[in-house]
Amino acid sequence: MYPLVEINGEKLRHNVRQIVSRCKEAGITTIFGVVKVLAGYQEAINDLICGGVTHIADSRIENLKNISTKLKKVLLRIPMESEVHDVVKYCDISLNSELETIKKLDYAARINRVMHEIILMFDLGDLREGLWHASDYLNFVTHIVELPNIRLVGIGSNLTCYGSVIPTNENLGILVRIKEDIERTFNMKLAYISGGNSSSLPLVYRKSIPKGINNIRIGEAFFLGRETAYGKYLEDCFQDVFILKAQIVELKRKPSFPVGERGFDAFGRVVQYEDKGMMDRAILAIGKQDVYPENIEPLDKRLKILGASSDHLIIDCTKTDYKVGDIISFRLNYGGLLQVMTSKYVNKVYLYNI
Ligand SMILES: Cc1ncc(COP(=O)(O)O)c(C=O)c1O
Repeated sequence: MYPLVEINGEKLRHNVRQIVSRCKEAGITTIFGVVKVLAGYQEAINDLICGGVTHIADSRIENLKNISTKLKKVLLRIPMESEVHDVVKYCDISLNSELETIKKLDYAARINRVMHEIILMFDLGDLREGLWHASDYLNFVTHIVELPNIRLVGIGSNLTCYGSVIPTNENLGILVRIKEDIERTFNMKLAYISGGNSSSLPLVYRKSIPKGINNIRIGEAFFLGRETAYGKYLEDCFQDVFILKAQIVELKRKPSFPVGERGFDAFGRVVQYEDKGMMDRAILAIGKQDVYPENIEPLDKRLKILGASSDHLIIDCTKTDYKVGDIISFRLNYGGLLQVMTSKYVNKVYLYNI
């Protein structure tokens, strides 16, 4: 039943294989497959595993708890103090930046009789999570290495998330220097030097990611076939792994400009309308409760999205021959994919072999 999102498993596996092989060529030995956008959808997670990711990463414990895999599971979001017991139970590795939380993880690991691995996050300028790169991080690490149930296995950084900062040899070079400093001071080897997300792929494809970066955490590029530093398509990848489909429930010729005194729309906003005369207007049975219209784009370039309320999407289909009952297909951006995959109102249809 519509609306539905079609997931092309073959194309997804292709994307993962291409990107994993580029990463390996650039000296990256472990690739975390970031699956949060899949909301635990196991068939597609299997495609990432089949495509060669070495770990499964998600920001939500609820997803990690239910994912079935032999690979190590990684919690991406800094743990909440209230979830430390679940973190040590359902994840092998978590990304961290707060000493008090790490101490609570140590306590939870002791109670649960496990050793919990952590990757310490560093902020290289993007201003999201992590110790500031110029802070007294050696002192911080001194406290971590004293904890008996915590093993510091790596360091990492996240860029192009809040501050839009693009990964470069300079900023990732700082992470490599921090690694050398920690390894020298504590006479230890860090297994993961995690150099970012899909925005680090331009450096990977140019084989110019700094030597020493040996891990990457990839989500969006696998699913949408684009890097996220400049938003460019990866030419060896598919951009249409996911296609959203919705059905026309009304199609009528009407004015383009509302008739009558105007106030607010269904979401309390004052909207400006353009008068284009009479037009053929299709209403599709999908709305903002499923996906925001700015996150989707019709594959048929003749169609133009006019707006949406909670349950209805209105499309200008002038000069086309669509009729009631027809299905319209859309491409999704990352935000749209996140919405449809987490919505219980959008069916998921997995295509095995095309
Ligand atoms: C810490 C962390 N690493 C990696 C990723 C993956 O980012 P992207 O989807 O841009 O590859 C995310 C976002 O999902 C994240 O929060």
